Amino acid sequence: MRLVFLGPPGAGKGTQADLISEKTGLPHISPGDMFRKAVKEGSDLGRKVKEFMDKGQLVPDNVTISVIRDRITQPDCGDGFILDGFPRNLRQAEELDDMMAEAGLDLHGVVNFEVPLDILIGRSVGRRVCRGCGATYHVEHNPPRSEGVCDACGGPLTHRDDDREETVKRRLTVYTEQTEPLIEFYLRKGILVNVSGDQPVVAVTRDLEAALDGIKRKIAR
Ligand code: AP5
Ligand code: MG
Ligand code: ZN
Repeated sequence: MRLVFLGPPGAGKGTQADLISEKTGLPHISPGDMFRKAVKEGSDLGRKVKEFMDKGQLVPDNVTISVIRDRITQPDCGDGFILDGFPRNLRQAEELDDMMAEAGLDLHGVVNFEVPLDILIGRSVGRRVCRGCGATYHVEHNPPRSEGVCDACGGPLTHRDDDREETVKRRLTVYTEQTEPLIEFYLRKGILVNVSGDQPVVAVTRDLEAALDGIKRKIAR
């Protein structure tokens, strides 16, 4: 299945993509995670993207699109993928259409995680991420068993540089101006499904799995 997870910063895209990826084996592809890794490694890509991420702005399209084009043509994407955080504007959505058309493939579904904007700041500001394995926690909603330590690998938990309140606010504005119009774009194509992200993680996963079953049935028809 070829899927896009759409939603504002802090909606739970990454949390749910990790869970579904583990269950289905579909690769979880997040440009945000790839960029953060590049910044940490100090690579050319990292140097190109850092200033934009720190300001809460989108990385230039040419950079992001080429990263995604390279990634989704890897052999592990043969059975599909979960794109988490791409596309994020109209130009990227049109480029993804072109990539699919060139390969003779369909995008099967776009899951839109709906969360009221006013709770999103708390989600991001309280987020903690494992430096070792990248697992995501929340100080209130999804705390690790032992404070500051990853349940999965024992690594130290850190705060993302762009999770400061001012930067989160800017990311939310970028979402509203540039990404939200994609809801209409994919609605018109008939592949958008809405899932409420404003409920406990397990309840979101349950609704998401029901939505994915619906997409599977549509593919089989
Ligand atoms: P990116 O890393 O994608 O950040 P984002 O879209 O802002 O999304 P987040 O990762 O903040 O949220 P999420 O929906 O994954 O939520 P999570 O599951 O972690 O992008 C970062 C930057 O990279 C961008 O600003 C941009 O600069 C650049 N970039 C990335 N993609 C780009 C693109 N396509 N084009 C250009 N630039 C790009 O959950 C959030 C928190 O809430 C966690 O603490 C979690 O534990 C908690 N939580 C999750 N689910 C629930 C729940 N149901 N109830 C309560 N708490 C929950
Ligand atoms: Mg994420
Ligand atoms: Zn870890």
